[in-house]
Amino acid sequence: MTGKKIIIGITGSIAAYKIPQLVRLLVKAGAEVQVMMTPNAKDFVSPLVLSTLTRKPVMIEMFDENTWSNHVMLGRWADIILIAPASCNTLAKMANGLCDNFLLATYMSATCPIHIAPAMDEDMWHHPSTKANLQKLTYFGNVIIESQFGELASGLIGMGRMAEVEDLVQHVQGFFLQNSQLAGKEILITAGPTYENIDPVRFIGNHSSGKMGIAIANECARRGAKVHLVLGPTHLSANHKNITTYKVTNAQSMFEQCVALFPQCQIGIMSAAVADYTPIEVATEKIKKKTEAFAIALTKTKDILNHLGSIKNANQILVGFALESVDEKNNAKEKLKAKNADIIVLNSVRDTGAGFGHDTNKVTMFDKNGYEETFDLKTKVEVAKDIVNKIIIFGKI
Ligand code: PMT
Repeated sequence: MTGKKIIIGITGSIAAYKIPQLVRLLVKAGAEVQVMMTPNAKDFVSPLVLSTLTRKPVMIEMFDENTWSNHVMLGRWADIILIAPASCNTLAKMANGLCDNFLLATYMSATCPIHIAPAMDEDMWHHPSTKANLQKLTYFGNVIIESQFGELASGLIGMGRMAEVEDLVQHVQGFFLQNSQLAGKEILITAGPTYENIDPVRFIGNHSSGKMGIAIANECARRGAKVHLVLGPTHLSANHKNITTYKVTNAQSMFEQCVALFPQCQIGIMSAAVADYTPIEVATEKIKKKTEAFAIALTKTKDILNHLGSIKNANQILVGFALESVDEKNNAKEKLKAKNADIIVLNSVRDTGAGFGHDTNKVTMFDKNGYEETFDLKTKVEVAKDIVNKIIIFGKI
């Protein structure tokens, strides 16, 4: 970790007493560590100990003796921010954009990856608002270091205990290793639905939220790739500094954006749910309800995956998805071949918790060399990791 710049953000939780040991190990491994604390954290661990270990003043207040501390530049200085322990209160503030202390202001303006090690009592851990906050933070691109089962400050035994210090050190080491795995690679990713206009107020669309594709974009960005995310209409977005988002509306605009970007990319991952058909004509005025029955003439859209498969060179890896409802595996294998993809990720609408809109997915991956592997139901963030791992193995990256 020589020369790596790490911000450790400590919040008001009993697990804060373990952080001097974490800081000591990171400094010993060669990292430059800057500690920040919320005002409440001071009650759990001494700033003096931490500043002695890091040889830097611990940052707590926005203003110190009439001097303003520059949270923006610190957020840009760091290679990683690790918030440990992250209390229930701080998680809620982070999920909702509150920044009423120095640590939160740094978090809000940070451009580096943020990793969070929650710590709280079991009942707080299981509260639906904590779950919702963690989900939100994950979709903002933060990495959550799972809490563990064990002894808690209340005396209870259960979930919510902060990951052990040794695990946190390993996690940070793993981050720096993985961080550069896809460095130098440009990756094209499609995500979300497409809307095919019928008239000025109606469209043909689908239920894709963009969650799966955004999770893949975040994972690729986290591993150092430059990501081009071509995103259909969704309220979700990706905000990692390595991701450039191109917002498109319909299948044609998604096609054009992908065709323009693919030649400069080494990997393409097509996770969008693209309309297969679009109205031949779009009415310029709102269509009136006049007849009992009404038909719209449709024509096929351009198949982006198919087109990229036909132009890809030997050094490009192309990954497609297959969303199926019947004879899933055969249909997926058929798509792998027909669209000249290297890998196909199958998800079935018949699997509970899989496909559109869910935070989870259940996939089977196939590659053109005959590989096939079925994964358990996992969060889309975890599925994204599996997909990226598969691409790395397939491409011997
Ligand atoms: O966005 P979420 O709510 O998280 O949901 C995720 C998802 C269900 C949308 C995702 O996991 C998924 O399955 N995406 C592909 C959906 C789909 O359109 O599947 P398909 O079997 O119809 O298409 C096969 C492949 O061809 C896909 O890679 C698709 O992106 C691509 N395609 C399809 C039509 C078209 N005109 N152009 C394409 O590139």
